[in-house]
Amino acid sequence: MKLVLASKNEKKLAEMNDILSHLGIEVCSEADAGVDIEVEETGTTFEENSLLKAKAVMEASGLPAIADDSGLCVDCLNGAPGVWSARYGGEGLDDTARYRLLLENMRGQMTRAARFVSVITCCFPNGDVLSARGECPGTIAYAPMGEGGFGYDPVFFVPELKKTFAQMTADEKNAISHRGKALEAFKEKLEEYLK
Ligand code: IMP
Repeated sequence: MKLVLASKNEKKLAEMNDILSHLGIEVCSEADAGVDIEVEETGTTFEENSLLKAKAVMEASGLPAIADDSGLCVDCLNGAPGVWSARYGGEGLDDTARYRLLLENMRGQMTRAARFVSVITCCFPNGDVLSARGECPGTIAYAPMGEGGFGYDPVFFVPELKKTFAQMTADEKNAISHRGKALEAFKEKLEEYLK
């Protein structure tokens, strides 16, 4: 079976193929499916936004489509940046400016609990919808550490491993990450659905 990934992110495409190829599933890009659309993420939850993206690409391609929506939720900021993680501080900022803004907004905060969340949704042309959620708890460091990864990785510290996401190898991160967990949960649901 072929699924179209509702994203322009090559890293996500490789990650999804790694995990889902074992089920005989091929995940292809929007470009491979001849789709070129911008979906506005107008939802207020990860569930709503991943559904919006998957549904739009399924309708445009006529094929089953899969989307993930993810972000960082910080307790002392009432869950911010949350679904606005990619746009925190406005469109003009890059990843470094965004995590610096986060550190600035948490200055003096001793309670630094946070979690990454990922919701994966798959929409089928017959109207069926499968969805799975994964979370990774951690804390926000006082300063960035590590060179790997992307986004907020340098400031997201995982106490069990005593490392930030940016200090982990891709395998270490995938084994515990929100997206890794959501993909594993999604894989189980898809396996059940295809039986
Ligand atoms: P999305 O691709 O629209 O779901 O936006 C997700 C945003 O959340 C990204 O742009 C990052 O800022 C942040 N994010 C999600 N997952 C991660 C991660 O694994 N590491 C670092 N930042 C992440």
